[in-house]
Amino acid sequence: MLLSGKTALVLGIANRWSIAYAISAAYVREGAKLILTYQSERQKATVEDLSAELKAFKVLPCDVTKPEELDSLVSQLRIDAGRIDACVHSIAFANREDLSRPFLETSRDGFLLAQEVSAYSLVAVARAIAPLMPDGGSIQTLTYLGSTRVVTNYNVMGVAKASLEASMRYLASELGSKNIRVNAISAGPIKTASARAVKDLTKMLDAFAEHAPLRRNTDPAEVADTSVFLASDLGRGVTGNVIFVDAGFQIMGLA
Ligand SMILES: NC(=O)c1ccc[n+]([C@@H]2O[C@H](COP(=O)([O-])OP(=O)(O)OC[C@H]3O[C@@H](n4cnc5c(N)ncnc54)[C@H](O)[C@@H]3O)[C@@H](O)[C@H]2O)c1
Repeated sequence: MLLSGKTALVLGIANRWSIAYAISAAYVREGAKLILTYQSERQKATVEDLSAELKAFKVLPCDVTKPEELDSLVSQLRIDAGRIDACVHSIAFANREDLSRPFLETSRDGFLLAQEVSAYSLVAVARAIAPLMPDGGSIQTLTYLGSTRVVTNYNVMGVAKASLEASMRYLASELGSKNIRVNAISAGPIKTASARAVKDLTKMLDAFAEHAPLRRNTDPAEVADTSVFLASDLGRGVTGNVIFVDAGFQIMGLA
């Protein structure tokens, strides 16, 4: 029960395969009081069903591109929970065509959209939630190796993840004096709705399992357990880091 007595806000469940779902399940297992958000009416019923299954305390709407929704989320959290100890940002989006055609063809709108939803939203979420962490807390985001290495077809999302990781470091630096830790978990590829938008995902998963030191793909449950560590007091000395949960893939050069 590593998270007993803690309240956690998890943004980014779309369905049962979402990394945020695995994280939520692990948080409940460890005794956290769980609050979930959904992006839009389209996902509301699914997230409410999953929330009932997880015995979450509350489900609230939040499209991170709408400042008014973030504002009402914070007002509601103040009333319902008063305090947040852990906040997981598990959100990204890019146009499907930007995850298949050459990076050189990326449109201005597609580039800005990926940056807004996948990187800037961490800044907006951190600014909104930090005041609800008066005694400190843990803010986490999900990233991928495509931020620092070229991964074919990851393209515009790789650039957004680079921006996300840099944002995480600046936030960690500024929020450290409030005892708020900010970290990113870099997960290996996992078959989720977002990942399916990347062209040739299956090829990527096969190559990954062949070359990763652990010779297998990444299990969302192991990403979730690392998130538990970061949210718990065990992670109290860790901030500003990108922690790889990727079966070791990122250490490999030529295999
Ligand atoms: N699946 C992978 O291979 C993998 C690997 C490394 C990192 N990640 C990252 O993990 C995170 C979660 O992705 P996932 O793989 O679980 O896929 P997913 O599709 O299940 O989750 C993505 C979530 O982002 C949400 N979202 C998109 N736009 C939003 C908006 N405007 N407002 C609020 N929410 C919005 C979606 O509703 C969805 O819940 C993403 O940041 C992704 O880049 C995924």
